[in-house]
Amino acid sequence: MTVLVFGRNGQVATALQRQAAASGQSLLAMGHGEIDVLDIQALREAVSRTRPTAVINAAAYTAVDKAETEREAAFALNAEAPGLMAGICAERGLPFVHLSTDYVFDGSKPAPYRENDPLAPLGVYGASKAEGEARVLGAHPQAVVLRTAWVYFEQGQNFVRTMLRFGRERDEMRIVSDQRGNPTYAVDIADACLTIAGRGLTPASPSGVFHYAGQGAASWFDFASAIFEEAASVGRRVPAKLVPIATADYPTPAKRPANSQLDCARLERELGIKTQAWRERLQTCIAKVVD
Ligand SMILES: NC(=O)c1ccc[n+]([C@@H]2O[C@H](COP(=O)([O-])OP(=O)(O)OC[C@H]3O[C@@H](n4cnc5c(N)ncnc54)[C@H](OP(=O)(O)O)[C@@H]3O)[C@@H](O)[C@H]2O)c1
Repeated sequence: MTVLVFGRNGQVATALQRQAAASGQSLLAMGHGEIDVLDIQALREAVSRTRPTAVINAAAYTAVDKAETEREAAFALNAEAPGLMAGICAERGLPFVHLSTDYVFDGSKPAPYRENDPLAPLGVYGASKAEGEARVLGAHPQAVVLRTAWVYFEQGQNFVRTMLRFGRERDEMRIVSDQRGNPTYAVDIADACLTIAGRGLTPASPSGVFHYAGQGAASWFDFASAIFEEAASVGRRVPAKLVPIATADYPTPAKRPANSQLDCARLERELGIKTQAWRERLQTCIAKVVD
C-alpha cells in the first residue's frame, strides 16, 4: 500500500513525506537524485519495482522568472514528464495526482477562477503547466490535476522564508499590493493529495481538474504584513515599515496575474476536501520555521 511520489526535497514533496509518516502510511519519494523523470524506462521501472497504489507528481520546474529564458527545461519537466507519468499510470490502472498552478490564468477575471475558466498563461512557467495539465488528462483521463497557488512551507524557497530573511536585515520593505491570490500551506496540499490518492480508481472516481488553495484572498502586501505580524509575536526581528507598491514598480521577467484566486468549491462538493484559512495556517507554519 505504497504511494509513489515524484519529487523529494521540494515543499510539497517534503510535506507529503511528513504527513504520510505521521499517519503511518507507506510513501516512497523520488527526487532528481533518484530518478530522471524524462526517462520513460526509468519511470516504468520505478513503478514496477515499488508497485504503488497511487502516484503523486510533486516534481516541477517552479522558477517562474527563470523559465522565461529556460523554456525547454520548463516544458520538459512541467509538460513532458507528467505526460509520461500519467501514461504509465493509465496503463496500470493507477490513480495519478498531478499538481498545477493558478498561473495558468491571466488574472483578468474579477472573481475567483473556476476549473473550467479559459486558460491564458502570461508566462512560460504558466504555459508549461497548462500544457502539462493537457498531457496528463490526455494520457490518463481519470487522473486528478490539482491546481494550487502561492505555496509556503517552513522549509524550502518560498515567500514566507524570503520575507523572514529580509525582515532580519531591512528596516523598510516595498511589497506588491495589486496582485491577489490564495496563500496555501504545503501541508494542506499534501493532505489533499493523499486523500485523493487514497480513494483508488473506479469508473465513478472524480477526475479532471480541481482547485485547492488556502481559504481567503490576500495581496502579497497583505501576506507580508501577516508574516511580520506572526514573526513579531514570536520575537523575530521585523522591518519597521512596509510600503505597498504597484506591480509596475517591481518589474519581473515573467508577468504575474493580477487576480489568481481559485474557487475551490468543486473539491469540497465532490471529494469532501475542505480548504483551510490561510491566515491560521500561516501561524502554524511560522511557529515551525527554523532558520
Ligand atoms: N511554489 C508555488 O508557489 C506553487 C504555486 C502553484 C503551484 N505550484 C505547483 O505545486 C507543485 C509543487 O511545488 P513546490 O513548491 O513543492 O516545488 P519546489 O519546492 O520548487 O520543488 C520542486 C520539486 O521538483 C523537483 N525537481 C526540480 N527539478 C527537477 C528535475 N530536473 N528532475 C526531477 N525533479 C525535479 C525537485 O526535486 P528534488 O526533490 O530532487 O529536489 C522538487 O521536489 C508544482 O507542480 C508546482 O508547479 C507551486
